[in-house]
Amino acid sequence: MKKTYSLMIHGGAGSVANKTSSLESIKKIVEKGEAMLRKGASSLDVVEKCVMLLENDPQFNAGRGSVLTHEGKVELDASIMNGSDLRAGAVAGVVGIKNPVTLAREVMDKSEFVFLVGKGAEKFALANNIAFEKPPYFITPQRKEQLMNTKKSNHMTLDHTIKDRKFGTVGAVALDLKGNLAAATSTGGLVNKNYGRVGDSPIIGAGCYADNETCAVSCTGYGEHFIRMVMAKTVSDIILYKKVSAQTASELAIKMLINKVKGLGGVIVVDKYGKIGKAYSTEGMIWGSVVKGGEVKAMLG
Ligand code: GLY
Repeated sequence: MKKTYSLMIHGGAGSVANKTSSLESIKKIVEKGEAMLRKGASSLDVVEKCVMLLENDPQFNAGRGSVLTHEGKVELDASIMNGSDLRAGAVAGVVGIKNPVTLAREVMDKSEFVFLVGKGAEKFALANNIAFEKPPYFITPQRKEQLMNTKKSNHMTLDHTIKDRKFGTVGAVALDLKGNLAAATSTGGLVNKNYGRVGDSPIIGAGCYADNETCAVSCTGYGEHFIRMVMAKTVSDIILYKKVSAQTASELAIKMLINKVKGLGGVIVVDKYGKIGKAYSTEGMIWGSVVKGGEVKAMLG
């Protein structure tokens, strides 16, 4: 098979507040990832870097600028997976971690565990010199206003509440020149989340999956639906057993998501050949890509 590389990233499903500047940011991040892959960087390093950059950009719901919990806090979830050996790392409900995806990578590389949560994960971060930030770094005025409005709408019908929620999450999937696949996903979760709620993003197989035999997948959407569908692994299994393209697998998985759980959200996929796929059940999804070393694209839709 000819050596090639591909990269796809997303900035969440649903409506986007500032389309132009979000797309500019997505394009710049894909360009950085593309340059790394072209020079021979591993897909694992590239997905971590792309997700870090998305976490640092307050326009997206991950890291800085994340949505707020019912108590007005930022609680973050992230995961990363390596397709060559199925190693994975994940963290959930962490507070004050500047880049949760880097903490997830540290869990994968430096611990015997896959998934750390809350205070324990923060203790592990401290012991491993992971960067922390104080609450004002994460909390933007837009998110404060969004929480206020969401709390008000909670007194209305459940449908209305769901309809108005934004399903922001960020993610990246990549194939490198050595033929290795990797995926990473990071999120602040849902606006007004309560009781330590955790969505699909840090759950390996639900919000993130990578296997060199099939593909790398990152999901965005209403986490409860994606957990129930084991969505990322479902996409991988469709490719494994049906031998279809990344695009067909994405479409089939989203069709199942709609039919089985009336699910809301989207997936991005890169397969072992470097072909990409995407599908969503929301009004849109913001994404960017480079396919087999070609042109860098950034799109909403
Ligand atoms: N997909 C992000 C979440 O539901 O938390």
